Amino acid sequence: MYKVNDNYLKLPGSYLFSTIAGKVTAFQAQNPDKNIIRLGIGDVTKPLTAPIIKSLHEGVDEMADAATFKGYAPDLGYSFLREIIAKEDYASRGAHIEADEIFVSDGAKSDSGNIQELFAVDNKIAVSDPVYPVYVDSNVMAGRTGTYDASTGCWSDVVYMPCTEENGFVADLPKERADIIYLCFPNNPTGAAITKDQLQRWVDYANEHGSVIIYDAAYEAYISEPDLPHTIYECEGARTCAIEIRSFSKNAGFTGVRLGFTVIPKDLRCGDASLHDMWARRHGTKYNGAPYIIQKAGAACYTPEGKKSLKELVGSYMKNADAILKGLQSMGYTAYGGVNAPYIWLKTPDGMTSWDFFDFLLEKANVVGTPGSGFGPHGEGYFRLTAFGTYENTLAALDRIKEL
Ligand code: MLT
Repeated sequence: MYKVNDNYLKLPGSYLFSTIAGKVTAFQAQNPDKNIIRLGIGDVTKPLTAPIIKSLHEGVDEMADAATFKGYAPDLGYSFLREIIAKEDYASRGAHIEADEIFVSDGAKSDSGNIQELFAVDNKIAVSDPVYPVYVDSNVMAGRTGTYDASTGCWSDVVYMPCTEENGFVADLPKERADIIYLCFPNNPTGAAITKDQLQRWVDYANEHGSVIIYDAAYEAYISEPDLPHTIYECEGARTCAIEIRSFSKNAGFTGVRLGFTVIPKDLRCGDASLHDMWARRHGTKYNGAPYIIQKAGAACYTPEGKKSLKELVGSYMKNADAILKGLQSMGYTAYGGVNAPYIWLKTPDGMTSWDFFDFLLEKANVVGTPGSGFGPHGEGYFRLTAFGTYENTLAALDRIKEL
């Protein structure tokens, strides 16, 4: 008889956003007349911008012509895209990353879930708490997290690094052994940003302790304050300890188009093993690359017209973020984020649990958000709203919350 990977059976419940979608679907079925405003999952609502649409059309036309048709993409991505990324996202910020250290993929979610395959099962992972659930869940599936304690919401072999009001939602360096450290800045879910000095401390820690940092920078386009690092490679020594994951979902609205990339510097080595070569091997074996048409659209993000259009796109979502943050604060809520990130992290009122507030908001205001406890134990008592709705819906949601 075959056996299943019983690590999957250890996972409590379903994926956070699937659970929420199920609850919202059930509520809508029982209340078909209610107009629900969704500010839960961080999914974009604005269409792709004109320069990107133009590039997509051109890509389609090329596929219709024998002279320009493309079959399999190169394993690691087209060089036209990898070169422009190296120039625009790294060289322009004084960070040294070569085009062949960039691995193009179908998005940050799959890369952040798959990257753990490079590491032995007995590594200890450390995560911020609260945290994007993919980092922990994918390590559970790999059998790296020990046993789950439902009373605390914690895995025995995971180092949880609390992110609280006191530390500005930026975790302190771990006191226990931490081999693989997941960091995400600007942060999902709290919306917190990290300063260059703080990030440098993490890089120094990783180099001193022989740890690797998996740095999720999916929200870097939302940084509005000056002097904050847009990539971990702005820090000295990051090439020997950090992997960076990026996405086109949030800066360019590609959630339904799918494109991202992972950077693994060639200096990142564990003894004789090159993580770059291992990831290249994995890509070559398990992946046939993001479609040509999509990679072409990705390159259009870096043209002058593309950059201008994305600045406007991000700006429009940040207008929502500002409205949510200020609107909630004016109603007396304690709220964070929304300045360098499209997420607002608010304290639930009257000591309500995160899920109680979720139900309350859904039933009374027909507004969907994300319960903080879904991101980890230290998310309890908090709630996340996303700025990715339309401006009209964002204002309408605030009006409804005000009426509660
Ligand atoms: C979120 O809502 O946290 C994100 O949209 C999820 C994702 O990007 O996978």
